[in-house]
Amino acid sequence: MIRLGIIGAGHWGPNLISNFSKSGRSEVRYVVDLDPERLRAVRERFPHVETPTGIEPLLEDESLDGVVISTPTKTHHELAKRALAAGKHVLVEKPLTTSSETSRELCDLAEQMDRVLMVGHVFVYNEAARVVKERIEEGELGRIYYLSMVRTNLGPIRVDVDAAWDLASHDISLANFWLDAVPLSATAMGGEFINAGIADVVFATLRYPDDVLVNLHASWLNPRKARDITVVGHRKMLTFDDTAVEAPIRIYDKQVLDDRSHPGFVDSISSFRMSVKEGEVSAPSIPPNEPLRNECEHFLDTIEKGTRPLSGGAEGLAVVRVLDAMSKSLKLRGQEVAVESA
Ligand SMILES: NC(=O)c1ccc[n+]([C@@H]2O[C@H](COP(=O)([O-])OP(=O)(O)OC[C@H]3O[C@@H](n4cnc5c(N)ncnc54)[C@H](O)[C@@H]3O)[C@@H](O)[C@H]2O)c1
Repeated sequence: MIRLGIIGAGHWGPNLISNFSKSGRSEVRYVVDLDPERLRAVRERFPHVETPTGIEPLLEDESLDGVVISTPTKTHHELAKRALAAGKHVLVEKPLTTSSETSRELCDLAEQMDRVLMVGHVFVYNEAARVVKERIEEGELGRIYYLSMVRTNLGPIRVDVDAAWDLASHDISLANFWLDAVPLSATAMGGEFINAGIADVVFATLRYPDDVLVNLHASWLNPRKARDITVVGHRKMLTFDDTAVEAPIRIYDKQVLDDRSHPGFVDSISSFRMSVKEGEVSAPSIPPNEPLRNECEHFLDTIEKGTRPLSGGAEGLAVVRVLDAMSKSLKLRGQEVAVESA
C-alpha cells in the first residue's frame, strides 16, 4: 500500500481523496485543511482518515510515501518544498507554482531528493487527448498550422491567480503534449473586470517552432461553459471537446488543396470553392475513461516503478514559463514576449 497525505479539501481535493481511496493500491492516511469545516465534511465521508489542521504530522510520519497538494496555487511552492525536503513523493495540482523560479527550485529539489514530482495536468491523462496526439504524430492531419483553444465558464473566480494561470494552464499543457514542443513567444491581452490586478479574461497567442500558432481564450466571466479545441493541419482538421462524452474528437477530412501553381489561386469565391476538399467527418471511438483516475494511478505507478511522470516537474515548469511570458505580455498590453528556454 502506498500511504498518502492530501493537503487541501476544498472544491477539488475531495476528488483526489476519493480516487486515491478507491485505488486499491493506496491508502489516504491524512487530509489537511486550514478550514475545520472542510475537515468535518471529510471525516463524514472518509471516517478512517486523520484530519490535522497543519502538515507537520505528514512530514514527521516516516511511513508516509507521498503528499498530494490541492490548495490555492500561491501556496503550492511552500507546501511542495516542505514535502519534498521531508523525503515525500509529491503530486501538486496545476499550475505547479506562480513563477518559473519557484517551479525550477522544486524540480531541482525533487532531483536532489530522488523523489517523484508530478503536476496534475489532468487533460493529458484523458484517453481522447492521447488519441489526438497519436493522430498528429502519425501525420494524419499533415503539417500543423494552428490550434485554437477556448476554455470559458461563469466562475469559479479565483483571487490568487488570473484566468490564464487557472484555465489556460490546461490548454498549454495539452498544446505542449500534442506538439511535443514548447512555445518560443507569447502575446496576451486581458481584462480585469471583477478584481483589480487579476485578469478575468485573457486572449493570448503562442508561437511554437515551425510557425505553429496556438490561440488561447481563457475566461471565468462568460455565460457558456466551453472547452472547445480545434487543430488545423494542412491535410485534415480536428476538434476536441472533452464535455462531448459520446464523441469528444471529430476529424474533418477538409483541406485547401495545394493548387498554388495555378495563377489566380483563391482570388474569388468560385476558385476558392474549387480548391477546397469537403470530405467526411469521422468520430474515433474512445474507450470510456476517467482522466483524474488515470492521473492518480499514474502517480502511484511512478512511485512504484521509479519512472518519470508524463506531467512531471519539467513539464509543469514548461507550462509555468509560458504563463510567466503571458503575464509579462499582459502588463505590456500585448507586446510579444520570449518564453524562457529550458
Ligand atoms: N485539475 C483540475 O481540473 C482542477 C480543477 C479545480 C481546481 N484545480 C486546482 O486545485 C487546486 C485547489 O483548487 P480548489 O478549487 O479546490 O480551491 P479551493 O479554494 O476550493 O480549496 C482550497 C482548499 O485549500 C485549503 N488551504 C488553503 N491553504 C492551505 C494550507 N496552507 N494548508 C492546508 N489547507 C489549505 C483551503 O482552506 C481550501 O479548503 C488549485 O491549484 C486549482 O488550480 C484543478
